[in-house]
Amino acid sequence: MNASYRHFGAGLVLLSLLAGVSCQEEYLPIEAAIEIPEAPKETLCSVKDHGAVGDGDTYDTAAIQAAIDDCAKHPEGGVVIFEENGRYHSAQIVVKNGVRLRLPKTTTLLAGIKREDYPKIYDDWYFILFSECTNCGIEGEGRVDGQGSLWVYGGTAEQKAVTNWDDASCTMPKQCRPHLIGVKASSLVTIEGMELYDAVHWTVHIEHSETVAVNNCNIWGDPLIPNSAGIVIDGSKRVYLGENTISTADNAITVRTPQASHGMELLLVDGGILQSRSSAIQIGHESRAMFSSLAFQNISIVQSHRGIAVALRDEGSMEGLQFTNITVETFFYERAWLGGAEPIHITALPRSVNTEVGTISDVRFQNVTCTAEAGIVVAGSVDATIEGLVLENVGIELVQQTDYAGGFLDYRPGVRGVVDDVQTSAIFIEFANHISLNTVEVVWGKPARPEWSQALEITPRTVHALHVTELFVHDESAHPHGREDQGGSARATMMAWVRRIENNLRSSNKAFLGLEANAASGVLGRRAASSASVIIIVLVAVVFMVFVVSGIVGHFDMRAKRHARTAEEAKFEKVAQA
Ligand SMILES: *[C@@H]1O[C@H](CO)[C@@H](O)[C@H](O)[C@H]1NC(C)=O
Ligand SMILES: *[C@@H]1O[C@H](CO)[C@@H](O)[C@H](O)[C@H]1NC(C)=O
Ligand SMILES: *[C@@H]1O[C@H](CO)[C@@H](O)[C@H](O)[C@H]1NC(C)=O
Repeated sequence: MNASYRHFGAGLVLLSLLAGVSCQEEYLPIEAAIEIPEAPKETLCSVKDHGAVGDGDTYDTAAIQAAIDDCAKHPEGGVVIFEENGRYHSAQIVVKNGVRLRLPKTTTLLAGIKREDYPKIYDDWYFILFSECTNCGIEGEGRVDGQGSLWVYGGTAEQKAVTNWDDASCTMPKQCRPHLIGVKASSLVTIEGMELYDAVHWTVHIEHSETVAVNNCNIWGDPLIPNSAGIVIDGSKRVYLGENTISTADNAITVRTPQASHGMELLLVDGGILQSRSSAIQIGHESRAMFSSLAFQNISIVQSHRGIAVALRDEGSMEGLQFTNITVETFFYERAWLGGAEPIHITALPRSVNTEVGTISDVRFQNVTCTAEAGIVVAGSVDATIEGLVLENVGIELVQQTDYAGGFLDYRPGVRGVVDDVQTSAIFIEFANHISLNTVEVVWGKPARPEWSQALEITPRTVHALHVTELFVHDESAHPHGREDQGGSARATMMAWVRRIENNLRSSNKAFLGLEANAASGVLGRRAASSASVIIIVLVAVVFMVFVVSGIVGHFDMRAKRHARTAEEAKFEKVAQA
């Protein structure tokens, strides 16, 4: 049995069970695999037999399409095979029911770049199209090359300028280019082991489909071509992305519901390395229908402008988002690209003054380690508070990596836009209820960026029921707030944080039991051993907050995790150079 199919099976079992457990504590092991019966003998249809040349220049469209039609005639479907070392230049390829394309490692499909290589209507502009296709796929270790470089005609060092077709069917003039692979209104589609290279727009677009897997693919896009995204999933069910390495200018993985009629349900992203000049993972922006049971686990996000973005802007809602065993590295890129070095950025805001906006509820981050130039942002709004957010075993180390200006809060898209000249806190929360921070560590690295401010910042009177257990703050830098207080770094940060909370809540009940004394003896330091714990209870009107701050030995260590990551980074570098 093929290992990747086993993996797919495991993913599907997990997916089907996730729906039921999204609001419980339990997590299912990925090993819960099912046996998939041995596939019957395959019918092979050779493109060479149908006259394909494979010289990289001649259009082989007709031969490839004839091989697909040949295979599609068989009741069991079949596999379209290509020659080793072939370079097949083609206009759009439409895959039919039961057909899989199989490309050997040395084989490349080159996407045509002429307008007449694609259909009349923008909605159908895909190089390889699965449309109402069941039991289809593309597999092998070959390459599908979008030839993005041939679309570039200039631009700046920040962003390349690319050709867009002038076509009445395309309503966004800056995005009138074809996508590489489209899976539309299809089911049981697998994209397996492929190199998907240099797309001039989205690399894989999965739309209104069910049971789709993209496994072990390397997706590489030019880091300076706008909209060259990795995998975009719109309103689909049971989608499994396993062990993909994705490096693209636009988002590596995007999950959306642009149409009210199609919700997004059961997504599992397991394993993989993601890098983007925008967001590595983005859920939303387009959010007109429900998103439920989306799980992301065992993922490394590297060198991205934003790590995990959850953005609700429309009438849809989001429920049951889980992020587990993830490392995130973010830093600033040019302002031309969306993002602001935030490792986690969750926002629920109306798109325009008239928008009815849904709710975000039950979002969990567990075992997530971030190194970032800016902080975690959790921002609901008057119209849409965020309900139920857990950060458990979450570490954030603030590290300066670039000289780009920071100090802004990005509420785009929407009426609030970008708010400039603000300070950056490691964790910023507004308009949110039932928030639990459980074993959260903040490390201020050095040198410090000038805008860095508090470990935890809460907008006054917008956060109800915040539960904090074990928040560790460690200051390695001579950062401005540390210097302010002669008492030393960790303690200074903690005291500044406490003062900030106190001011923000305008507390008249300053029940900070013994905190000052404990802080002075050092229990708030990152590694200090102490059995002392401090409980602060602040009751202000409807605000109920409990803080338990204690020093413990041997809590999870970020540095060890960072070292463990280097092998994965090496793999990523290799792909980036390919
Ligand atoms: C996690 O992902 C990495 C890289 O994608 C992979 O090598 C590793 O085997 C995965 N670990 C588990 C437990 O799935
Ligand atoms: C996270 O990693 C731990 C330790 O490697 C493992 O036991 C756990 O099952 C993983 N959780 C998920 C959801 O992958
Ligand atoms: C988090 O990591 C710990 C230690 O590796 C592991 O025991 C635990 O199962 C993980 N949590 C989840 C939700 O996977």
